[in-house]
Amino acid sequence: MVKNVNIGIIGAGAIGCLFGGYISQVESDEIELNIHLYTREKCKKKISKEGLIIKKGGSTRKFSKLTIFDEPVLPKTKILDTNYAFTYLFLTTKAYDNASAILEYDDLIKKAKYFIILQNGIGNEDLIVEKFPNKKILRAITTNGALMEEDCSIIHTGQGLTKIGLISQRKGNSNQLKIEQEDKENLEAIKNILTLAGLETTIVEDIEKDCWEKAFINIGINAFGALTGLRNGEMIQNSGLKNLMECAVIEAVNVAKAKGVNIGKKNYVDLMLDVARRTSNNKNSMLQDISKGKTKTEISFLNGKIVKYGKQLNIDVNINEVLTNLIYGLEISNRIKNT
Ligand SMILES: NC(=O)c1ccc[n+]([C@@H]2O[C@H](COP(=O)([O-])OP(=O)(O)OC[C@H]3O[C@@H](n4cnc5c(N)ncnc54)[C@H](OP(=O)(O)O)[C@@H]3O)[C@@H](O)[C@H]2O)c1
Repeated sequence: MVKNVNIGIIGAGAIGCLFGGYISQVESDEIELNIHLYTREKCKKKISKEGLIIKKGGSTRKFSKLTIFDEPVLPKTKILDTNYAFTYLFLTTKAYDNASAILEYDDLIKKAKYFIILQNGIGNEDLIVEKFPNKKILRAITTNGALMEEDCSIIHTGQGLTKIGLISQRKGNSNQLKIEQEDKENLEAIKNILTLAGLETTIVEDIEKDCWEKAFINIGINAFGALTGLRNGEMIQNSGLKNLMECAVIEAVNVAKAKGVNIGKKNYVDLMLDVARRTSNNKNSMLQDISKGKTKTEISFLNGKIVKYGKQLNIDVNINEVLTNLIYGLEISNRIKNT
């Protein structure tokens, strides 16, 4: 029998539309996929009328096999497990929108079997675990790159790898949610769906560790780019700046270790510098957001989290504290310019 799988994506912007579009074209003899994108009114109108456009390299593809909403409407399509409206519900807003999004989409989240946070940042799940303690929550991180244009079309700027894993809720508590065999199978199933969609995906045992590792790179690059206006490669040409970038990562690694995060023995400073070198022409996303006049960034979920945890653990986090406050300053400055 063909199994119906409902997938929802809350906050379908650049990454959410990229994933939603590619997933919507998956064809399989065993499953019938229904994709529901939850986005803003402007994009809902545009995509419902003209389909979702994804550009990559020189090619442009149009995806029309998806349903799009600008409010928390439950899908009408049936799934076999009647307890749930969605098998997988993704959250792809920016991390700073999590509080408002989970409030608005509360009912949909309750009716989802698995809730997948596909975002950058550390501890993004905390709020969600607190509000939905019995929900099976996953985190996913991706090195795919995407941009949403003014007309809501998507540019797939770089092919990458996606990592996914169940988060271990309520760590250290005997009341931990049990991971059943069924969960392992469903995790494998979403990995296969993403892979069929052309999004190379791997399941990881300790996704928390991977989120931290990705954050180390962002912590060493993003705020520095936003503050200086420099491209990734330009920043490491200046020894003073490069030294500060290294210090920010060292502070973050110290905090991770003190928090008991199971990070490996990799040299995260070298990794960060290597990424900056390989992406030397890039203007990072925080720089792009600030340049576009956005009044919010994900700083609180990157350097800001290092400051929060560092202070709790009595660890020196001076560089990250300065960076966090300077970025808050840029956010305020954009708010003033916008008024
Ligand atoms: N883009 C990339 O290449 C990339 C790569 C790796 C990881 N990431 C991570 O992926 C996450 C998403 O990034 P992104 O670049 O896709 O951001 P984005 O383009 O800003 O997409 C987020 C979307 O969510 C919408 N949104 C926010 N609250 C909503 C709500 N309550 N209901 C419906 N829509 C809502 C936003 O609309 P408004 O703008 O109108 O608020 C925006 O369209 C971030 O954590 C980012 O760090 C991104």
